Amino acid sequence: MSAPTPSVPPAPTPPRAGGPVLHLRSVSRAFGGLKAVDDVTLELHEGEILGLIGPNGAGKSTLFNIISGVHPASTGSVVLDGRDITGLSTHAITRRGLSRTLQDHGVFAPLTVRANVEAVHGATRRSRAGRSVQDLLEACMLADLADTVAGDLPHGCERRLSIAIALATSPRLLCLDEPLSGLNEEETSEVLDLVRDLRGSWGMTVLFIDHNMRAVMRLCDRVAVLDRGRKICDGPPHEVQKDPRMIEAYLG
Ligand SMILES: Nc1ncnc2c1ncn2[C@@H]1O[C@H](COP(=O)(O)OP(=O)(O)OP(=O)(O)O)[C@@H](O)[C@H]1O
Ligand SMILES: [Mg+2]
Repeated sequence: MSAPTPSVPPAPTPPRAGGPVLHLRSVSRAFGGLKAVDDVTLELHEGEILGLIGPNGAGKSTLFNIISGVHPASTGSVVLDGRDITGLSTHAITRRGLSRTLQDHGVFAPLTVRANVEAVHGATRRSRAGRSVQDLLEACMLADLADTVAGDLPHGCERRLSIAIALATSPRLLCLDEPLSGLNEEETSEVLDLVRDLRGSWGMTVLFIDHNMRAVMRLCDRVAVLDRGRKICDGPPHEVQKDPRMIEAYLG
């Protein structure tokens, strides 16, 4: 696939020199007696693709929900680009440059591809100051499908649309929750190529959750493993793959 067009200006919020794009400090979240996320500390650096893996129920989506403001953390803090965003609303966090896809992909089926992206793009000043809807559609290989109703799209295109929608808020940090689920091999490769291109051409920083271990290990610079809410290891893919704690978590 072709790379996203790099000819338009970068996202409006410049990175702060030095520090990580995202810093989670001892973040926990309990639901009644269940510690869904338990004392997780994690850093994500400029232009990095970080994989977040773990068995079903490990706390991955809950961590995304905390980062993006859907659930407040019970304890701990979330710092985005040097600013504490703990407890802010989802809208306030989006305005500060964090965008996410949902595990159910969040595409509005009755609208066309273009209208899905426009609906988000028109909503904030940050979006309008960033890349145009046309640039986003081209980057996600959706320009030829702009007038197609989203509900009629094949899975792979629908998934790239969910990424285009997330990009429409002009994020510094893109969080993708299971973008490969249900995709065949070719569709999977297209989504992986898109994520690589976004990092390569736009310098996007990406947090990537998926159960497709092979794809995560191929794509990501670093991988963190959650198990029963706790981060059990964090490192380059070739090291994490061999880590006995990760093997134990998956074998149960
Ligand atoms: N709103 C909620 N209320 C109560 N319990 C919840 C809530 N959200 C998540 N949980 C529980 O928290 C734990 C972690 O769930 P979470 O969805 O974060 O896991 P996950 O790692 O994303 O799993 P999967 O790989 O299946 O998507 C699970 O035991 C889940 O049942
Ligand atoms: Mg999940």
